[in-house]
Amino acid sequence: MRIDLYEKIWMWGVGAMLTLFFAATAVSAVTRSAHPPSHVETIDPAQVMRDPRFRTQGVSVDAAGRVHVHVVGLAFAWLPRELTLPADTPITFHLTALDVVHGYQIVQTNAQAMTIPGYVSRYTATFPTPGEHLVVCNEFCGTGHHTMYGTLTVVPKERWTAPAVRTPAAHDRHPGGPGAR
Ligand code: CUA
Repeated sequence: MRIDLYEKIWMWGVGAMLTLFFAATAVSAVTRSAHPPSHVETIDPAQVMRDPRFRTQGVSVDAAGRVHVHVVGLAFAWLPRELTLPADTPITFHLTALDVVHGYQIVQTNAQAMTIPGYVSRYTATFPTPGEHLVVCNEFCGTGHHTMYGTLTVVPKERWTAPAVRTPAAHDRHPGGPGAR
């Protein structure tokens, strides 16, 4: 079969682009921890405030000493609005929404996730340097969308006092809870 020179150039070009795109995805997955969701944890959106996992929002520490944060999004606020967290420490965020889809974005970091009614979004982030981050909602959720913000303050590890709040053990019964990996 005779293939025209220009046809060959385009075929090799497309092949090279596909290889490049696949390599970029693979490299960011391995080196920058950019992964698709690996678990599906569900929650009854009408019962979030009574659910043992989200009854108490904010910072907690589990039996192994790991730091967790529980945040509830609703039109138009994040609960809690302010967080103080230690630098250089892996922190697992558990996020859900009461009403519509919101987006929890910690500005100037790669930590962000959609909060979807009925689901618990989870990721672990480490903040290397102390400082203050703005937290915004990055999914348009209604007339008060622009007022949905908060503050995340990162303090040096040694200046941070772990709260007495225990991470709800209920997470262990759900796939994707702290016990899962
Ligand atoms: Cu919540 Cu936009």
